[in-house]
Amino acid sequence: MPLTNFVKDLAAAVTELETAGTAKGAEQVVVDVLKPTADRGARVLLQGHGDKQFIRMNSNSYLGLAMRDNIVAAEEAAAQKFGVGPGAVRFISGTYEPHVQLEKKLAAFHGREACMLTSAAYTSVLGVISTLATPETIILSDELNHNCIINAMKLARPKAKRIYKHLNMAEMEKQIQECVGQCECLLVITDGVFSMRGVYAPLKEMCAIVEKYNHNFPRDIVLIVDDSHGVGSMGDTGRGTEELCGAKGVDILVATLGKALGVNGGYICSRKEVIHFLREKNPFYIYTNPITPSEATAAMAGLDMLDSPEGKKIVAHLHAMTKKFEQGLVDLGYETIPSPHPVTPLMLRDTERTTRCVSFLRENGVLATGLNFPVVPKGDQSIRFQVCADHQAGDIDYVLGVLEKFKNV
Ligand SMILES: Cc1ncc(COP(=O)(O)O)c(C=O)c1O
Repeated sequence: MPLTNFVKDLAAAVTELETAGTAKGAEQVVVDVLKPTADRGARVLLQGHGDKQFIRMNSNSYLGLAMRDNIVAAEEAAAQKFGVGPGAVRFISGTYEPHVQLEKKLAAFHGREACMLTSAAYTSVLGVISTLATPETIILSDELNHNCIINAMKLARPKAKRIYKHLNMAEMEKQIQECVGQCECLLVITDGVFSMRGVYAPLKEMCAIVEKYNHNFPRDIVLIVDDSHGVGSMGDTGRGTEELCGAKGVDILVATLGKALGVNGGYICSRKEVIHFLREKNPFYIYTNPITPSEATAAMAGLDMLDSPEGKKIVAHLHAMTKKFEQGLVDLGYETIPSPHPVTPLMLRDTERTTRCVSFLRENGVLATGLNFPVVPKGDQSIRFQVCADHQAGDIDYVLGVLEKFKNV
């Protein structure tokens, strides 16, 4: 089939994005990674840039675990033993010992009865919401929740879908009151950390509100938190936004293995009945391959490291570098949004300046993410920096030095 008209339409749609300046554009290709040293974070080399070294201030690998020798060795050994792919979905013959061990470890780490692995946090959320919502359910979601929650809500067929204003607990409570008598079950869902700005949901307060109204719903209020950006980077032991807030009462915790834990894949923690039900009913678990046994082994090595005295030191260093960077921005007279999370936004509030600053940073060997409308609301144009535990004081000073120069460009 020539597909002449079909592809013409697609090309026009992409041109429209490019003209509006909202296309993602060509992807940067990493061709090499220089390992971190005691006084310098990792550097990457990019295709088309020769030997030029870039410091990555746009990685979700907050703890720098992806390059750790013992974790890479653990993955290699498991690949030798089990091969590089699972060969089947979980219920056929794709369940390997590392999958089961990792599920047990994650459940224990988060103080939950049970855990199930998925191929990504994205599909975890799709599966949880679309599988648990019934025609007698209402879903209530923060307006700035991640795209996976938005798409999960599109996929689900509940009685109603409601959105509350970003982090507005008074409005969330009011909406819960309005749902009383309207449904049997209420699913309340939020990101733990909102990845554009590094701000986080007040989970302790949310748990208290949910507890206050739970008796009004015959099949309970279920509080679901996607803490993909919080696990590993929030709280003294990296247990995430729950730990930071001192929250007890999150019913279903979703997170990723692909950010702070440095590997790939997602997981869901909850009561054992919830996990058992999802293993039987969740199509995003049943009909798709799991992560590889070697990825599960690497994630276990990452989790063991996080949950050790060394892990606590790594998390403390991440928090110290984050504070140093945030304070440095303030000292330079820049606007940021204070948060303990390593996502540190530089609020430029101007599209042209944001684009220019990202280019200036890149020319000077710094990779950071420009966020322009419509990714962020007009007026919130910013650059998202992500601090990583392998960054050292000299790295942070270097990036701040580039930003100081940019003030005079
Ligand atoms: C809240 C949230 N959920 C899910 C994801 C996706 O995680 P994964 O790559 O494991 O699908 C992200 C990543 O940006 C995220 O911020």
